[in-house]
Amino acid sequence: MLARTINYLTPAYLILLSAFFGVKALLLHLRLSSTTATFRDVWFTLFWHYSGPRFFANDPTISRIASQCRGKVLDIGPGTGDAIRFLPHPPLITHIYGLEPNIHMHAQLQKAVDAEGLTEVYTILPFGAEDLDGLRGAGVEAGSVDTVLTIRALCSLDKRLLDRAVGGLFECLKPGGQWLVFEHVRNGKCSVSGLLQGFYQILWPRMLAGCNINRRTSEILLRAGRWDVNDLVDLKEEEHWASCF
Ligand SMILES: C[S@@+](CC[C@H](N)C(=O)[O-])C[C@H]1O[C@@H](n2cnc3c(N)ncnc32)[C@H](O)[C@@H]1O
Repeated sequence: MLARTINYLTPAYLILLSAFFGVKALLLHLRLSSTTATFRDVWFTLFWHYSGPRFFANDPTISRIASQCRGKVLDIGPGTGDAIRFLPHPPLITHIYGLEPNIHMHAQLQKAVDAEGLTEVYTILPFGAEDLDGLRGAGVEAGSVDTVLTIRALCSLDKRLLDRAVGGLFECLKPGGQWLVFEHVRNGKCSVSGLLQGFYQILWPRMLAGCNINRRTSEILLRAGRWDVNDLVDLKEEEHWASCF
């Protein structure tokens, strides 16, 4: 009962925590005096820098999934680089492109890349997954990628661009390539959880840089293209609200 209550309340705690970092970002922003987009990015960077390592980065599934990367990799939304330590090294990896549109995260991300000795093979690209022209400009051709990696990233893509972005990433994959996924998604197993997610979703994207707490991500992935193998699984099998992240 206690575990269930904690799970139900965790999103509220994260929203409050984010509000705190919003105030901090506001103070910084006043000094930066820049755009709303910059403010949102600075805000989320402050929040993620604090909460990523504490609340999000230590799920053992992340290391299991990230360590399966092979060849040429598209690392979508690597953030401040909490999962970089789990990536394999050459020769298993040939090159990794980290698509991170929030440039305020880049310094921390580069630090994580350097600390892992991946500097020569990891290129940070300052745009989002929907920017296919950017990808082509960076030399990532259709059918040339061995692995697409999305860890808690598809929740953050703009809804209007989502299908296009996911379809474009699918096109980048070689025949036989793999898409490794770890995402928080809609809880379709328990109506209370689904309702709560719906309730939290009112504030969640506004407080967490456009993140969606209840996205039907597997459906989006499955309609992106023809998959030879689909081994997507729900990791949390509890009947109640399993987790929001
Ligand atoms: C919840 S954070 C997760 C960060 C990292 N994957 C992790 O698990 O530590 C979501 C990340 O997706 C990035 N993001 C947002 N929109 C994106 C887009 N259109 N393309 C790629 N990444 C995006 C955000 O800037 C942020 O770094």
